[in-house]
Amino acid sequence: MENRKVALITGVTGQDGSYLSELLLEKGYDVHGVIRRSSVDYRERIAHLEGQPNFHLHYGDLGDSMSLVKVVGKVQPTEIYNLAAQSHVQVSFDSPEFTADIDATGVLRVLEAVRACHLEKTCRIYQASTSELYGKVEEVPQNENTPFHPYSPYAVAKLYGFWIIKEYREAYDMFCCSGILFNHESERRGETFVTRKITLAAARIAQGRQDKLFLGNLDSLRDWGYAKDYVECMWLILQNDKPEDFVIATGEQHSVRQFTELAFRRAGIELKFEGEGIHEKGICVAVSGSASADLVGKTLVEVSEDFYRPTDVVNLWGDPTKAKAKLGWNPSKTSFEQLVQIMVDHDMAKVAAEGAAAKVRTNLAEYLEKGIVK
Ligand code: NAP
Ligand code: GDD
Repeated sequence: MENRKVALITGVTGQDGSYLSELLLEKGYDVHGVIRRSSVDYRERIAHLEGQPNFHLHYGDLGDSMSLVKVVGKVQPTEIYNLAAQSHVQVSFDSPEFTADIDATGVLRVLEAVRACHLEKTCRIYQASTSELYGKVEEVPQNENTPFHPYSPYAVAKLYGFWIIKEYREAYDMFCCSGILFNHESERRGETFVTRKITLAAARIAQGRQDKLFLGNLDSLRDWGYAKDYVECMWLILQNDKPEDFVIATGEQHSVRQFTELAFRRAGIELKFEGEGIHEKGICVAVSGSASADLVGKTLVEVSEDFYRPTDVVNLWGDPTKAKAKLGWNPSKTSFEQLVQIMVDHDMAKVAAEGAAAKVRTNLAEYLEKGIVK
């Protein structure tokens, strides 16, 4: 491996891209991120890094191969972390073609950009693969040998990404690997993923800024970890002696309902769930801290078909044994309870600080409630 430490991150503005940038800067890397032009400021997650001498941004797009060739040629990276994707599963049903272009062909474009720049022998590549590949699961828990059964346009696109990485590894002897990451969350998680939607709603409801939270399938089971712990594993995968794929997960499983109960409890609201399926409701039975006593007896959580998916993945549970043994990665660094606390405490402070401006942000909550934004 080369002594130069130059990382190129696609998806640098996303949840994982921002944590990975911080980690690599700490490790002394020159970090280059690929960003897209946007009419609004979407660089919130990396704003604190901009201006640092070793942090650089370049315009590019996974749908535009020339832009990738130009950036790769200019940066001459020793490591590429391909995190860019249309990453929302439900949205992939609305925009399947775009999702395929970015999440499937986009991976091929990155690999070909590396070859076009003659860096295939020196540049290591990490591909952000996903537990969604297991989809309609054929085995529980899931490990590196579990058969794939993708169950959404997103997962089908990511399956191509997984296989093209493997193909280039074998065909051209490239050091390229996939991390099969299970769900990982944080206070930087996008607001329409279920965990962040819940923690923001719990904070807003506790502070009187939202009336109700509408969710889809409460029975869905996920293996949720903390994003900050997971980016460390991305780096470890590229420091391994040989290119291999790894499952990254905590090895623990919880339902959407359990996440909701815990998050509301942390915000000072005790919920009791009653009813079944579309008729299930979360009713406030007690409050503590600053949450208003007026909430007691009110229905605060309801189920809406708007958030059901045509096909839903409902039983993800990862087995991180290989990553523990070969990479020395610790899957239990942040517990599920700690993760929920970190997210709720952050969102309680955020909602309180927003003050008058909170009304503006609440528009998003209203759109979420009505199912306009999924
Ligand atoms: P995220 O917050 O949604 O970030 C996605 C990133 O991709 C953003 O920076 C986005 O840029 C960028 N992007 C989207 N389309 C692009 C395009 N056409 N060209 C260039 N950049 C584009 O996702 P995340 O949670 O950080 O996840 C990172 C990666 O891991 C994704 O590939 C995701 O599919 C995968 N993954 C995530 C999880 C998880 O639980 N978080 C689990 C397994 C796998 P904009 O800011 O411009 O939109
Ligand atoms: N988003 C959302 N909104 N999901 C809901 C809701 C809701 O109101 N109600 C229930 N769910 C259920 C979904 O049906 C799904 O079964 C589960 O909660 C998790 O949904 P998301 O948080 O949207 O995440 P995801 O598991 O579909 O996808 C995330 O994790 C994948 C790894 O398994 C994304 O980060 C993907 O990019 C990633 O690959």
